[in-house]
Amino acid sequence: MQTSHLAPDGAGVAEATRLLRAGGLVALPTETVYGLGADATNGKAVAGIYAAKGRPSFNPLIAHVPDIAAAQALGLFNAPALALARAFWPGPLTLVVPMSPSCDVCDLARAGLATIGLRVPDHPATLAVLKALGRPVAAPSANRSGHISPTRAEHVLGDLGGLIDAVLDAGPCEIGVESTIVACLGGAPRLLRPGGITRSQIEAVIGQVLVDGQAGAGSPIAPGQLDSHYAPNARLRLDATAPDAGEAWLGFGPDPDLSRAVATANLSPRSDLVEAAANLFAHLRELDATGAGRIAVAAIPAKGLGEAIRDRLERAAAPR
Ligand code: TXA
Ligand code: MG
Repeated sequence: MQTSHLAPDGAGVAEATRLLRAGGLVALPTETVYGLGADATNGKAVAGIYAAKGRPSFNPLIAHVPDIAAAQALGLFNAPALALARAFWPGPLTLVVPMSPSCDVCDLARAGLATIGLRVPDHPATLAVLKALGRPVAAPSANRSGHISPTRAEHVLGDLGGLIDAVLDAGPCEIGVESTIVACLGGAPRLLRPGGITRSQIEAVIGQVLVDGQAGAGSPIAPGQLDSHYAPNARLRLDATAPDAGEAWLGFGPDPDLSRAVATANLSPRSDLVEAAANLFAHLRELDATGAGRIAVAAIPAKGLGEAIRDRLERAAAPR
């Protein structure tokens, strides 16, 4: 199949909407990463997402909607969920809530769970598609399963070109790491994945400490949170102070002596975590493309957006 390259203008939005309505697969820009979208109410279209990505198991997909009202037709919002939606949507936050009786998202997109992940992305072209379509769009990151998430249309085409109908190309994604996932299922809200909204931003809205999601009896699980994820071909060595001979270097802040590095990039020479998040996946892809066997990565502080950056780096470094 030929993958069309659509501009983020009226014609591109109209064609993306037409393709989705017809059950096609369209990569859509968001403020976090590009998503591989399909009509979430169409089981056959959603099955196409898993096939194109080569996703081994049926992890639940986030349903993307244009506003809070559309989200409330699909999920049941308790007080903290509503407060978080009002504070951060549109934006890089996914809320996992109980599915509502009127929810028409197909079983496959929810992986059969009684909960649903919902998000209103902050991107004008994609919001225009969601409004025009009038149906929720299921969209995981638009990469081959287990590969590095795409923050540019070229990344999407490199992984999925020829396997999907179109990519709506709106240039680089602004934030660069995926949404923060918070489960609001009664009791204290739980953090299932750190992301573009920081822990302290969430805590300021809910007025309590955000509990970590995975542990504890009866807690929700994010089945997609496999340890090895976001994987480059190269091995990663984290919290490095300088490159060893033969390693590529991924810096943060002022660089050490780089004379022994085979390739270098810097997430943010001025130690800005926002800039580092925006550069993370593109720099990992660039260094990986040099064929270096190992990438040494400078220490990233665990505060603010650093929590999400470290999470992605730890997954990229996990044994596989
Ligand atoms: O920023 C993002 O969230 C991007 C853009 C495209 O929106 N999407 C994204 O999707 O990162 P994906 O599929 O790569 O990651 C979604 C995660 C998975 O780990 C999945 O297990 C979890 O969300 N998830 C989705 N629905 C869930 C549910 N009902 N319960 C628990 N976890 C859920
Ligand atoms: Mg992903």
